[in-house]
Amino acid sequence: MAEENIFADRMLSLGLARVSEQAAIAAAKLVGSGDEKAADQAAVDAMRKQLNLLDIQGVVVIGEGERDEAPMLYIGEEVGTGEGPAVDIALDPLEGTTLTAKDMPNALAVIAMGPRGSMLNAPDVYMEKLAIGPGYPEGLVHLDMTPTERILTLARHRGRKPSDIMVCVLERPRHADLVREIRETGARIRLITDGDVAGVIHCAEPEVTGIDMYMGSGGAPEGVLAAAALKCMGGQIQGRLIFRNDEERDRARRHGIEDFDRIYTRDDMVSQHVIFAATGVTDGSILKGARRDGEWLETETILMRSKTGSLRRLLYRQKNQ
Ligand code: FBP
Repeated sequence: MAEENIFADRMLSLGLARVSEQAAIAAAKLVGSGDEKAADQAAVDAMRKQLNLLDIQGVVVIGEGERDEAPMLYIGEEVGTGEGPAVDIALDPLEGTTLTAKDMPNALAVIAMGPRGSMLNAPDVYMEKLAIGPGYPEGLVHLDMTPTERILTLARHRGRKPSDIMVCVLERPRHADLVREIRETGARIRLITDGDVAGVIHCAEPEVTGIDMYMGSGGAPEGVLAAAALKCMGGQIQGRLIFRNDEERDRARRHGIEDFDRIYTRDDMVSQHVIFAATGVTDGSILKGARRDGEWLETETILMRSKTGSLRRLLYRQKNQ
């Protein structure tokens, strides 16, 4: 109850949906344009404008980048009217800039909000990720296991063959060995070209998406956003930061990170209850993309609260101006 007063998550959740809806609508106007930067900028502008209408004392903890490289929604930027609860915000106004520019599936506008101090202030480096859906014993699979061990463990636990397991992996040259090893177990792979927040969320609804496990490296900020989604939907994610050079290690130190080998669980990344909204920009397996219907613009949003595990699917439409 005390936390409800401090954070007012119930009251703020519809406001959060408005924020992701407007970011998705702005980006959707540039679907298929080939212009990733313009689509991203449109989403950033719209998201920031909507966030600043909310009665919050918000701080961006996962944003568009460090202050010197992102003019808007940079890490540490204060957003909201300055009235109301002190909250942390993790956002990606356009998760899947290339997907949007090329009109490919699963581009999303994504935002999570929690009380101050609730989300890991992850540096913009890569993170090795492993995720599975709800209903499994905690720690059943682990980043310290080999990919083969993870697949055999999951298959054994479910009383299935490895060939019944579908793993989602970002298609990248750096994942060539991972892909080979997964295939050697007999498991199957859904390769995605971008968008690992959606990739991880897919694990939470395996009966809808057909995906049982997510593996591989992607952005650390996206890892925290995915952890916020799984905190609401159920499911496990583990992440370990990857540092390619000293500049990245310095960046992590500036974010207060001392232990470079730490494995972060879902609850390490998102330590208190949060609310989460994602709106489809292009059509995908979990959400329809924003679309024009005559004089109307329509969007579909999932809006979730981890405290209750509630999930709403919101259809929204507004006049196309
Ligand atoms: P953008 O929307 O910023 O283009 O990011 C898309 C994405 O695919 C993320 O989902 C993922 O975490 C990251 O890029 C992977 O990075 P890289 O393209 O360098 O492998």
